Amino acid sequence: MIQAVFIIICSLPLLHATLPLVINTWHFENAASAAWGALQKDGSVLDAVERGCAQCELEQCDGSVGFGGSPDERGETTLDAMIMNGNTMEVGAVADLRRIKNAVGVARAVMEYTDHTFIVGESASIFAQNMGFMSEDLATNKSIAIFSQWLQQNCQPNYRKIVSPDPSKSCGPYKPKAEKSRQTFAKGHFDPSSHDTIGMVVVGKNGQVAVATSTNGATHKIPGRVGDSPVAGAGAYADSTAGGAAATGDGDIMMRFLPRNGAQPTVACTSAISRIKKYYPDFFGALICANTTGGYGAACNKRPGFSQFPFMVVNQQTNRPQLQKVDCF
Ligand SMILES: *[C@@H]1O[C@H](CO)[C@@H](O)[C@H](O)[C@H]1NC(C)=O
Ligand SMILES: *[C@@H]1O[C@H](CO)[C@@H](O)[C@H](O)[C@H]1NC(C)=O
Repeated sequence: MIQAVFIIICSLPLLHATLPLVINTWHFENAASAAWGALQKDGSVLDAVERGCAQCELEQCDGSVGFGGSPDERGETTLDAMIMNGNTMEVGAVADLRRIKNAVGVARAVMEYTDHTFIVGESASIFAQNMGFMSEDLATNKSIAIFSQWLQQNCQPNYRKIVSPDPSKSCGPYKPKAEKSRQTFAKGHFDPSSHDTIGMVVVGKNGQVAVATSTNGATHKIPGRVGDSPVAGAGAYADSTAGGAAATGDGDIMMRFLPRNGAQPTVACTSAISRIKKYYPDFFGALICANTTGGYGAACNKRPGFSQFPFMVVNQQTNRPQLQKVDCF
């Protein structure tokens, strides 16, 4: 979630000492390195964000990006990804992508080879195959094991509510609950250890901004569920006149907010999180923000088991990825 649209009125010709900049969610160091490497080889900011996120897809970062993770209620892994060019405001995105590993690559193909923004589901897979992406099974022994264990524990946890049979005890198929006694569910089932996303912002040496995200979504999700990650303005946003931002966390909640804010990255991230907190005090979510002069920041919502949010930063000064942490509030 985050269209941290940093309204920057006049960018004075500051020294671009810290540009270019790569910043990404979590401790995905190789992703930061891959993006940085692409920039060093004169790749564009788009090449860099794509390479960075693709690295995580290959490495199956935390099991939450790429193939073999987050099996849905039917045991299938599907992928969501998005890429945005902050110079042209072009976006390419895919969601519920099946059988194709390189989701961010397909997102870029949507941006470069079509006039569309967003292609989903089986049709996205066919599009990808036609564009030369290999079709392969995304299941792994690990995702199969996660799925079998979930079945054995009566499909707990799941994302159903007000249905019968009782979703807190039984597997489906579910139907709407007949009785009026509709008690609402406490809260979502996201937890930081089982759910995250790579979101990356790259700012080039002249202040060009590109962002990308890639995820396999929420474990045990209802098939077809798409969170915030592939939605421009929700999962990430880039505008080379202002900056860029990317989100991670409970996408079902975060995609309902499209905060906008001021010029300071940390302030922008913080106030975006504050706004969601007012409605969902316990939500799990974090944001990274960067502006066109290489300023960056992050913010996250504090909840049990999540008091610090790690992210990677590499810029002209550090020249190698550094792990940074922000205290959640
Ligand atoms: C997956 O499980 C099968 C059957 O148990 C086994 O033969 C195979 O080596 C496993 N693959 C990996 C990558 O562990
Ligand atoms: C970008 O952010 C940095 C750090 O907060 C700040 O010092 C700088 O003025 C910002 N740049 C612009 C153009 O607002």
